Order: sequence, then structure tokens, then C-alpha cells
Amino acid sequence: MKGIVDLPLAGKRVFIRVDFNVPMDKAGNITDDTRIRRGMESIRFAADSGARVIVASHLGRPKGQVVEALSLKPAAERLASLLGRPVAMAGDCIGPKVGEAIAKLEPGDILMLENLRFHPEEQANDAAFAEQLADFCDIYINNAFAVCHRKHASVHAICGFVKEKAAGHLLMDELHYFESAMGAPARPLVAIVGGAKISSKLKALENLLHRVDKVLIGGAMANTFLKASGIFVGASLVEDEMLDTARKVMAVAREKGVRFYLPVDAVVTQEIAPQSVGVVVPVQEIPDGWMVADCGPATVRLYAAALANAKTVVWNGPMGVFEMEPFSGGTMGLARHVAACHGLTIVGGGDTDTAIHKAGVASAMGYISTGGGAFLKLLEGQSLPAVEALA
Ligand code: 3PG
Repeated sequence: MKGIVDLPLAGKRVFIRVDFNVPMDKAGNITDDTRIRRGMESIRFAADSGARVIVASHLGRPKGQVVEALSLKPAAERLASLLGRPVAMAGDCIGPKVGEAIAKLEPGDILMLENLRFHPEEQANDAAFAEQLADFCDIYINNAFAVCHRKHASVHAICGFVKEKAAGHLLMDELHYFESAMGAPARPLVAIVGGAKISSKLKALENLLHRVDKVLIGGAMANTFLKASGIFVGASLVEDEMLDTARKVMAVAREKGVRFYLPVDAVVTQEIAPQSVGVVVPVQEIPDGWMVADCGPATVRLYAAALANAKTVVWNGPMGVFEMEPFSGGTMGLARHVAACHGLTIVGGGDTDTAIHKAGVASAMGYISTGGGAFLKLLEGQSLPAVEALA
């Protein structure tokens, strides 16, 4: 796969597909611009190289309709202020007016197209729509790692129509770091898997069991594993239909010699709410009617000990309901221990990323992926269709 730095860009119309799917508040303010900051290196590079730069992204899930609140205008404004140069905004992403705006671009100019998902053809991976986008450019750059697990027109079908295609800086980095962690990792390789449901992480767990030395489980999915091990978990969130699967996962871990860690204590509550009070109990003493909302301090110490000799750590999913102060201790504590690891630490998934920032340890991590679903697909051992199309 070629990279953006391998191509002569001067004077060319360079179409850069980014993932500026950033969170916004109700007033339309961007609340976290990480994806813009991380995706803009290739935009700056292309503009500095004298390319006529066309930037395209999706935002949210407008279901093929124009939804004013999901316009990319705020993203274009933020990009302009971060780059310190003008970014023009198109009224659409296809059509004659967009074509005219592109024809007027001078070397170094940047034009941001409107939300690709305002057209149903984007998510339908429609060939004619992809061809129209391809006609706008001489060179296509995919720098949108976070959407590479989707077979959508601007990341997949478009590859069949462009003359030149390559990966942007962010996409290269994402694939490089993931490969370093999971391809031929320095060992011990420890996976931390948290989040609410085993069902959404099952494929990842199954794949990880073939690759890692230790797995540390957290989040509500730990409740299902605990219950499957015969522990009473009160009114905690449990996937009862996954109990057999949980037992199988633990049996495979045993067979493979993978050390499988479950929480030993929990922060329990009668109601998961920001003002609730959490009580720390050993997992054997979860009271009837109470629910687990976080792992406890003994679990954090245990997991810190498990991480002590780690040479590579891959982390996806929080340990508890960290968005609420009383239940944030497990995730925050673990984040600090992962940050202190000497090996390569890779973190992925929207929630985990937020937690790392909340803990103030983002700069101590080896690599923080911008991908949620895309990162999970890689953890599942699957290839990303948009990356395959680019190769
Ligand atoms: C993401 O935020 O994970 C990507 O932008 C993909 O968004 P989607 O889940 O709406 O396809």
C-alpha cells in the first residue's frame, strides 16, 4: 500500500477522506476535536506540497437526508483554526457546483465537502456516486481509519475509479501500531477488555485468546464471567444467554495457557446515578438487589501486578461506569497503571480514549487509536474492507 508521502502532489487535485465524525453538543459546538487534530497532518502536508486539497468526511448518521445539525461546517471552521489557514466549505459533496468550486482551487487551497452521508449512496457503497467523487480528483488519499470497517462509497467503491490512491499519515500510523502490538509483539502481551457486553466483544476475545499471554476483564461483561464462575452478582447487568459462552471462553483460555483475570472486588450500588454512593465489597459478597458499577481497588492492584512485566498492552473498553464520579475509580486507576507500563501500550475504542483523557494520562500512552468499530474489527482479527480496497 502506498502512502501519501510516496506521491508527487504538487498541482494535483488531492481528495483526502478523513473521519471528522466528532462529538458535538446540542448547540453544534465540537466537544472533542481529537479526530480533526489527528487527521489534519495529511491535509497540511498536501497543501504545503502545493496540492489542490479536497477534504471529505461523514458526520453522524443522517440516514441519507440533509440534516442541518450534522453539517460539517463547524468541523471545517475548527480545521481552519487548527491549521491557521482558510478552509472553504462546499454546499454539498457532489454535483456541478462542487465541481466548479474544485475547478477554481489554486495550489495550497483547501475545500471541505459537505457530509457524505447526506446522500444514501454513500452508505450503499454506490458505484455511480463513488465515480462522481473520484472524478473530482487526480489522487485519492484514505486517512479515515475509524470508518475503514465500513464498505461505504467514499472509502471502498471509490478505490475502483481513482487513478492514484494511497493511505494518509493517520491510517498508516494506526495500521503500523496495531501490527506492532498484535503481529509480532514483545511479550508478555496483555489484553485488557472491558465494556458492557460479552456479545459485542466475543469475537475479539476469541481472537485474542490465540495471541495474548494474559487477559484482564472489566466492565459489566465481567459480571457475566463472574456469574458463569458461580459468583452471585445481585442485580448487576448480566447477559444470561452468554453464560455458556463465557464458560467456553474461560475453558479455551485454560487450554491455551492464557492467564485470565477477573475482578476480585467491586463497587456496588443500588442505583447507577451520578449522586449514588458506591460501596466496595469482595465479589463474593455482592448484596442481593445491588449492582456492580465498577471494579474495586483490590482489582486495580491485582491488574497492576498482572501488568508489571508486560511488554505490550492492548486496551479496549472501560472497567466501570467511569462517566459517573463514584464509579470512575477502577478505570482511572487502571489507566494510571497502563500509563506506567514500560512496554508498548495501545488503546482503542471511543470510551477508552475518553477515559484515558479523563485520567490525564493520554500523553503517556504509546498509541491511542481514533477507531471504535474499526479498532474492534482489528482486535477480532478481521481485515478492514476499505484498507483492502486501497491496497
Ligand atoms: C465511528 O465513529 O466509529 C466512525 O466514524 C464510524 O461511524 P459509524 O459507526 O456511524 O459508521
